[in-house]
Amino acid sequence: MKVLVIGGTGTVGSQVVQELLKQNAETYVLTRTEANAKKLPGGVKAVIGDLLIPNDVKKIFNNIDSVFLLNPVGNTEASEGLFAVNGARMAGVKRIVYMSVHKLDDWIHLPHFGSKLPIELAIKDSGIPYTVLRPNNFYQNDYWFKDALLQYGVYPQPLGDVGVSRVDVADIAETAAITLTQDGHEGKTYNLVGPDALTGAQVAAIWSETLGTTITYAGNDLDSWEQQFLQFLPDWMVFDFKLMYECFQRDGFLATQEDIDIQTKLLGHAPRKFSDFTKATAKIWKAAQ
Ligand SMILES: NC(=O)c1ccc[n+]([C@@H]2O[C@H](COP(=O)([O-])OP(=O)(O)OC[C@H]3O[C@@H](n4cnc5c(N)ncnc54)[C@H](OP(=O)(O)O)[C@@H]3O)[C@@H](O)[C@H]2O)c1
Repeated sequence: MKVLVIGGTGTVGSQVVQELLKQNAETYVLTRTEANAKKLPGGVKAVIGDLLIPNDVKKIFNNIDSVFLLNPVGNTEASEGLFAVNGARMAGVKRIVYMSVHKLDDWIHLPHFGSKLPIELAIKDSGIPYTVLRPNNFYQNDYWFKDALLQYGVYPQPLGDVGVSRVDVADIAETAAITLTQDGHEGKTYNLVGPDALTGAQVAAIWSETLGTTITYAGNDLDSWEQQFLQFLPDWMVFDFKLMYECFQRDGFLATQEDIDIQTKLLGHAPRKFSDFTKATAKIWKAAQ
């Protein structure tokens, strides 16, 4: 079976590739650059192309059986996803696993949530057998905060005081490989979540324990978060993420017990814990010093 991973050079897709290799699936990765193609693991074949270029889209999916699709956050996200769905349909792809986002229906006004709705709808309308994965906030986002944690003793993601059921990308990747290669998941939508609903202060406390030093939660003030992050991120992204953190702080971003039970059954193990992620990450950071 030939499986194409779109986003296979990024955070989630690179782990999906590792899971597919464990299952001996014939694995292809779409990338826009020769440089990223050269960095792919042994045994993986590169497909060079860009989802925003129609002539590429007409070729990318030739001879592919199954597609893992994600599209990065950006102002062309919906277009990239819709181009991909059409390319897959025209080439006769037999299965799509699409990575969307948890609570899409609740927070459709958020640009990077709402952008995923037409993609989900187009997939469901395409006639291609599909599975939708809807993950919560990734543990791996904390890689962005390495300097804040290690140099300033601060945890800056304004997750709020209600709770966020953050998830390990390893669980997303495992689920993706299972739904890409095994039958029985057609037409299903799975929320992918962690086992605990964590507040900003609890996340900081877990980092404190792991690192053996005090990590202070930067707090819920979104205006000061905005001023700080405009130094590092484009203004459209800060606008979008600030709206998202308002939702987190007001409602939480919470799993149900049913979500956790379904995921546990799918994976064959409980969702990975945040404290295990922080321990593994701290080890990698220490080794790199
Ligand atoms: N972070 C979170 O907490 C979270 C939670 C839920 C959902 N999500 C969703 O996760 C998605 C992002 O996943 P990620 O973090 O794994 O992405 P990522 O690390 O930013 O990787 C982006 C990937 O997309 C590829 N790409 C970019 N533009 C492309 C184009 N025009 N044509 C073809 N490929 C293109 C890149 O490949 P090359 O550069 O090699 O071409 C790269 O492999 C977003 O949709 C986001 O909303 C994130």
